[in-house]
Amino acid sequence: MQRRSFLKSAAALAAAPALSPLARAAAESLPAVASPNPHRFPQNFIWGTATAAYQVEGAVHEDGRGASVWDTFSHTAGKTFQGQTGDVADDFYHRYKEDVALMKRLGVRGFRFSIAWPRVFPEGTGAPNPKGLDFYKGLLDALHEANIEPFCTLFHWDLPQALEDKGGWTSPATSQAFADYAHYTASQLSDRIRHWMTINEFGSYIDAGYGTGEFAPGRKLSRKDWMQTRHNAVYAHGLAVQAVRAGAARPVQVGLAEDMSGVMPAIEDDAHIHAAEIGLREENAWHITAIFEGRYTDHYLQSLGADAPVFTPEEMKTISSPIDFLGINIYTTREAVPSDAAPGYQMVDRPASYPHMASDWIFFNPHAVYWTPKLASTIWGVKSIYVTENGCSSDDVLRPEAPNPAGQVLDSDRIMYLRNYLTQMQRAAGEGVPVHGYFLWSLLDNYEWASGYSKRFGITYVDFETQKRVPKLSYDFYKEVIRSNSVV
Ligand code: BG6
Repeated sequence: MQRRSFLKSAAALAAAPALSPLARAAAESLPAVASPNPHRFPQNFIWGTATAAYQVEGAVHEDGRGASVWDTFSHTAGKTFQGQTGDVADDFYHRYKEDVALMKRLGVRGFRFSIAWPRVFPEGTGAPNPKGLDFYKGLLDALHEANIEPFCTLFHWDLPQALEDKGGWTSPATSQAFADYAHYTASQLSDRIRHWMTINEFGSYIDAGYGTGEFAPGRKLSRKDWMQTRHNAVYAHGLAVQAVRAGAARPVQVGLAEDMSGVMPAIEDDAHIHAAEIGLREENAWHITAIFEGRYTDHYLQSLGADAPVFTPEEMKTISSPIDFLGINIYTTREAVPSDAAPGYQMVDRPASYPHMASDWIFFNPHAVYWTPKLASTIWGVKSIYVTENGCSSDDVLRPEAPNPAGQVLDSDRIMYLRNYLTQMQRAAGEGVPVHGYFLWSLLDNYEWASGYSKRFGITYVDFETQKRVPKLSYDFYKEVIRSNSVV
């Protein structure tokens, strides 16, 4: 998919200077979280599934919801696959009880979902819309009853259109509006939600939304304005971390979910691992590195020259407000090799023969879920990591005539993908990397942004004509993983 190939080139906007020695000692002193059985996941591991508001809810005109940039974008000719929109999507707004029951049968302990900002503040700021929050209160009650812990994302790309009309993320006022929305929402829902994520994937909605224009709002800014927009987004995250804590009525856990540019050593020796460490830090320089280190890397700024963002030390301090956990969306990774040229690593271009899943940006590399968390914990001493998304699309075929329900969608490629990725995640957890939970993307086939309904990522098949849900074979596979707390 273009968005992902774009992100590859976006990362190349910046590379880095030589690194100061990394905090290996921090990783060595990580608490052991593995259980004695080498094939089991840690005892309190949180198995979950993930969704996002615009991708599943539908009901875009109901109960006072305002328009989002995705409503506008998807209704603009030529922007999405066959002009498809999220107007109805999975109709989750009306069917969430059925979907919570699906999760309960699956045995998950966690559910990652997002709140639609334009349901809570239809105009982005100003008067809140109580009915919008009521929907989430109903959902949270249903989850509570099913003993499923909510993990809430405050922003999964559905910016209120009213804010976009005033400049969207190009305007620092949007960063402040996001903090206000976060504060209010936390004040209303912190009794029901302990785990909060500010933002999902800076790289996707900023770079694809304001850089290449492939995603809403479909703008193509100059590089200078685009880089400043990136800064506004990470600043919004920092403000929101503080706002959630200030608004919450009890201590909560605050983090974010980022589709980090994955980097792994091409060969598992010291030189390549070191190259991968440098690479991970530099490929994620403008968000995760800035959040953990409180500064943009020298190379990031130097490589942008006159297009580098303008910022103050206070803003960098806010951006690096401490977080309680790092959520990583992991679908794939790329290999790094050492380089004599600064900053000391080189990303390997994938040969055309590199295998991928049904979405051509999901290159099959299970080691992604081993190396990305491991390197993040090594470099920044992260103490709590959740894999907040992992999964793949598949060319699923529904066979209603199959004799048993689980035989209706035999998605063996998805099972192959999951089996391999989960095995590597177990390797990480078994070695003491603090991976505390996993959220499979996705519970349901849903609206996959610019790809519309053409890509199916669910472990539950959705017939978009009838809204019938049919668990796929991968649903049963995942159910057994959860039941046994193990892949093998
Ligand atoms: C993740 C997003 O990056 O990728 C999800 O957080 C998205 O919202 C998933 O559905 C699959 O990506 P895409 O672009 O193929 O729909």
